[in-house]
Amino acid sequence: MHLAVIVLAAGKGTRMKSELPKVLHRAAGRSLLGWVLAAADPLNASETVVVIGHGADAVVEALPSMSTSVVQEPQLGTGDAVRVGLSSCSDIVDTVLIVPGDMPLLEDATLAAVVDTHRSRQAAATVLTVNMDDPTGYGRIERHGEQILGIVEQRDANEQQRSIDEVNTSVYAFDVGLLNDALGRLGRDNSQGEYYLTDVIAILNSDGHRVIGVATDTAEGTGVNSHVQLAGVGEVLRHRINEQLMAEGVAMLDPSRVYIDAGVVVEPGATIYPDVYLEGDTTVGAGAMVGPSVHATSTSIAPGATVRFSVLDGAAIGSEATVGPFTYLRPGADLAERSKAGAFVEIKNSQIGTGSKVPHLSYIGDATIGAASNIGAATVTVNYDGFDKHKTTIGDRVRIGSDTMLVAPVTIGDDAYTGAGSVITHDVAPGALAIERSHQKEIPGYADRRKRRASQDGE
Ligand code: UD1
Ligand code: CA
Repeated sequence: MHLAVIVLAAGKGTRMKSELPKVLHRAAGRSLLGWVLAAADPLNASETVVVIGHGADAVVEALPSMSTSVVQEPQLGTGDAVRVGLSSCSDIVDTVLIVPGDMPLLEDATLAAVVDTHRSRQAAATVLTVNMDDPTGYGRIERHGEQILGIVEQRDANEQQRSIDEVNTSVYAFDVGLLNDALGRLGRDNSQGEYYLTDVIAILNSDGHRVIGVATDTAEGTGVNSHVQLAGVGEVLRHRINEQLMAEGVAMLDPSRVYIDAGVVVEPGATIYPDVYLEGDTTVGAGAMVGPSVHATSTSIAPGATVRFSVLDGAAIGSEATVGPFTYLRPGADLAERSKAGAFVEIKNSQIGTGSKVPHLSYIGDATIGAASNIGAATVTVNYDGFDKHKTTIGDRVRIGSDTMLVAPVTIGDDAYTGAGSVITHDVAPGALAIERSHQKEIPGYADRRKRRASQDGE
């Protein structure tokens, strides 16, 4: 048995009102097409062909490297799309599964059930159907018992047919030989002047072949045609991701306010507070506490770390480290275990050593900080001279005084100190104190003199 999967993705998606091809719109961190391909993947089909048309270049670029695509131009309907798809399948394929590229809620088990039922019942065609509360717009399923006699499109249906609430999802399994033959006999005599794949069902019936259905629930049958539907499927996908993670042992205080993309790894024993967004290839280790209000993109949060009210972008947070509240970690911010980045601190492209702390109001960029050092409040690594970025190196057990400007390139040796308010422009030797300040002047009686002057001016 040789199975091919053909994904239909040539349509325009007019109602998205977007330049982006419809199947590339994203929900829960994956494109619609990406979700469909992921659902089909466990079938281990010998071939997968994506039929593309609108925005073909962009779609090809987004496809995984192993998948084949074929361009349908012009787009003459779903029957034509399948004909084009079959043209790039090899001759050994005997069964084909058709899947629309805009149905991201389809589950692998459902697709497998369509293929298995189709084979075990030796059908010519097997249609995945759903019962819709409001079937408006869908192709209606006409039956005689378990035999599906035909599919009638909304626009071509009479009143009696429109009252049928069982509809076509556009997921089907077909016998390839019979499908090819029927496609060759399709006409365009319908309200849209298109080759309808749905008309194949009546043709197979007229030749006396078996056409059966497999039913699924409404959610899975939902296609995306608008941003409202895109948001709706995003909610369902997030719910599935969260349920799965909680089943594995992740704690969530309010899963309806947790937004975890496909591809993110959260280990059992982690706790996720509300208003957390985990995107890209973010990872969260066991025992980590994330949130409330964290937006993390491609950031690793090691076991036992705590992150609250922060934005993390391409950062690495070591085990037992603490971040936030109100911290901005940018690409290359690398915090070792038990380190700290506190309130109103921004860090980019810098290593913060084991147990070192940047607790308040600081900017650390292009710096390396050793272990057990403390960076006083309002310290800035002055890394940019208007032309180039320069590096700041800080050793182990260093005490940087509050409001120190470290004008890079500069190196502060192990165990060194800087005085508060210093502008440090030269390297500091290990164990030394560097202080850069003018002497404090004091003018006694200044307030009284000022007051006297003000009253004289007023006379
Ligand atoms: C189709 C079915 C309808 C079913 C509905 C489910 C037909 C005639 N009708 O209607 O019975 O209830 O899906 O959503 O098949 N496509 C191409 N090339 C084309 C035309 C379409 O690749 O020339 C692709 C689209 O990108 C889409 C899929 O085929 O992924 C379905 O096309 P669409 O126009 O959305 O079909 P519907 O009118 O919704
Ligand atoms: Ca259409």
